[in-house]
Formats: sequence, C-alpha cells, structure tokens
Amino acid sequence: MNAFPNATVVQHPLVQHKLSLLRRKEVSTAEFRRLVREVSLLLCYEVTRDLPLEKVDIETPLEHMKAPLLAGKKLCFVSILRAGNGILDGMLDLVPSARVGHVGLYRDPETLVPVEYYLKLPDDVAQRLVIVVDPMLATGHSAAAAVTRLKEAGAVQIKFVCLLTVPEGLRVMQEAHPDVMVYTCSVDRQLDEHGYIRPGLGDAGDRIYGTK
Ligand code: URA
Repeated sequence: MNAFPNATVVQHPLVQHKLSLLRRKEVSTAEFRRLVREVSLLLCYEVTRDLPLEKVDIETPLEHMKAPLLAGKKLCFVSILRAGNGILDGMLDLVPSARVGHVGLYRDPETLVPVEYYLKLPDDVAQRLVIVVDPMLATGHSAAAAVTRLKEAGAVQIKFVCLLTVPEGLRVMQEAHPDVMVYTCSVDRQLDEHGYIRPGLGDAGDRIYGTK
C-alpha cells in the first residue's frame, strides 16, 4: 500500500539527477537557481498531466483539422513567499499565460501559528486549477494554512508542488487537506529539531537568493 496516498513522487531520471545536483552544498547560487527552474519545469509537466483538452478547428498550411487545445480557464500558480518564487519561473516557462497569486506567511514566534501578511489572488480563482508552489514542504503548517486561505478565497481545485518533503509534512497536509495532491521529487527521511528536511538541500530561499 502507498504510505502517502496524497503524494506523487516524480521519478523521472532527469528530475532525480537534477535534484541530486541541487542537494550538493558546493553548487553556486546561479547554478542552484538554474536547476530549480529546470526541475520546476519538469514538475509542471507532471502536475498538468490531466488538464482537459477540447477539439478546436484549425487550418494547417495544407488542410483543415480538429486539433486539441487546453480547455477552460487558464491555470493559477500561487507562490508561498519567498522561496516559492524560485519555482514560479520554471512553471511559467511551460505555461506562460497562467495567472499568478502570492501568499505571505510568517510564524508567530510565541504561538508558532502561521500568520498571513500578504495575499493577492486573481478574482476568479474559484474557476481555475490552482497550483501552489513552495520548494520545501517541511512541517506542513504553512502549506496547510496557505491552502486553507485559498479555499476561503474560493479555490476549489488545488494541487501542491514542492521539491522536497518529509513524512511529517505529508501527514499534516493529508489531515488538513486530503483533497490536495502533493507533487514532489522526494520524500526525505525526516525533519530535524530546527525544522530542516534531512538529508534535504538546506534553506531553499537562501540558496535561491544567495542570502544567509
Ligand atoms: N525550509 C527550507 O528552506 N529548508 C528546509 O529544510 C526546511 C524548510
């Protein structure tokens, strides 16, 4: 039985190879950013695998045909600030017409509860497939809070994309939002006492933006 029914681990060899490169501590900021973009594009390919198509009349240079095009409203990517923005570029490479929303959350140092400090979404988020992006699904609390907020704003069809996660984070998401499938490159071993994913890749935001 699948231990994590809410997770799709993308096993494509290119994804796994690039993830291993990303994990290496000696990778430069520029290289890290480039790899995140490439892996995100490949994850985008997977998460959009079941988008509906409709047959549309087109003219090739030679004849008329009915050709499949994406049906319905464009996608909406929602980035959880700030590291989620690193994933957006690869996603937008593949779906340049998608709408983009942002959610900013910080953890209250006393209550440890995620507090929202920024939210901007398209008005018609209820009619779109919403793909939430954050490189690291660690404790799962921010991700679950962001998805709760999106549902309050009307979002109905939601998927979550991350580079890495751990069993703890998947369990939190499964309990809070069993309807949300998580797409990831790996379910790593565990969270450490500082909330880092092990073996992980370190602080994704710091590595994407070259901060410390
Ligand atoms: N966020 C990160 O950037 N890295 C982790 O390992 C966990 C959360």
